[in-house]
Amino acid sequence: SVAEPLKVMISGAPASGKGTQCELIVQKFGLVHISTGDLLRAEVSSGTDIGKRAKEFMNSGSLVPDEIVIAMVAGRLSREDAKERGWLLDGFPRSFAQAQSLEKLNVKPDIFLLLEVPDEILIERCVGRRLDPVTGKIYHIKNYPPESDEIKERLVQRPDDTEEKVKARLQIYKENSEAIISAYSDVMVKIDANRPKEAVFEETQTLLSQILLKRMIKTDKA
Ligand code: AP5
Repeated sequence: SVAEPLKVMISGAPASGKGTQCELIVQKFGLVHISTGDLLRAEVSSGTDIGKRAKEFMNSGSLVPDEIVIAMVAGRLSREDAKERGWLLDGFPRSFAQAQSLEKLNVKPDIFLLLEVPDEILIERCVGRRLDPVTGKIYHIKNYPPESDEIKERLVQRPDDTEEKVKARLQIYKENSEAIISAYSDVMVKIDANRPKEAVFEETQTLLSQILLKRMIKTDKA
């Protein structure tokens, strides 16, 4: 018999390393990565109606209206691949209303990973972040530089990654985090994410493997 697929939420301040950990988690566990930031950036770059509505909010570092993001996530979670392979929800819920919407849909994670990093480090991580538009991979000019000159030349910076906008994003995160954390306190695990990404991943993968292992033992007994 096959155990139920994993349902994982990952949260933390801007640049706490959510996207970076998600790359590693997806490689190892094959979950469907649902990043509201990535989905919204894709809508903006293809110039859809959602993208047009979301763009100004994102560029100024504020939250996109709940109804837009909730509809996007509900649609993505209901697809067959997410049900079959399990999911990794990154950047959602980000407000009390978003957490409530998931409760209404009866969506609960097995685990809520909370990445913790001191504020001053977050700013430096954002300002140094670069993205590869070809592979989608996340780099950092100092911490994780690109592997070749060819990649280096095509890297891009996010419009919301200036020091000023990072500070605004961090402020919004702090205003909302309490309400979200309290909704998931029963499955929350805090992780010290101010360590190299491999060390952080070592801890996250152990946590996820433990859940799967327990589930397999249960399924075998049943
Ligand atoms: P989103 O894309 O979700 O941005 P964010 O939460 O601010 O998170 P980031 O993508 O900035 O950081 P991350 O934690 O993924 O870090 P990363 O791994 O890249 O959202 C963007 C915008 O979209 C929002 O402002 C809002 O407008 C809108 N939006 C999204 N979701 C929404 C929602 N639910 N509701 C409403 N609006 C929404 O790492 C950062 C850098 O650090 C990289 O350079 C990386 O290489 C480096 N790094 C990573 N890990 C380490 C490490 N362990 N050590 C050293 N460096 C590291």
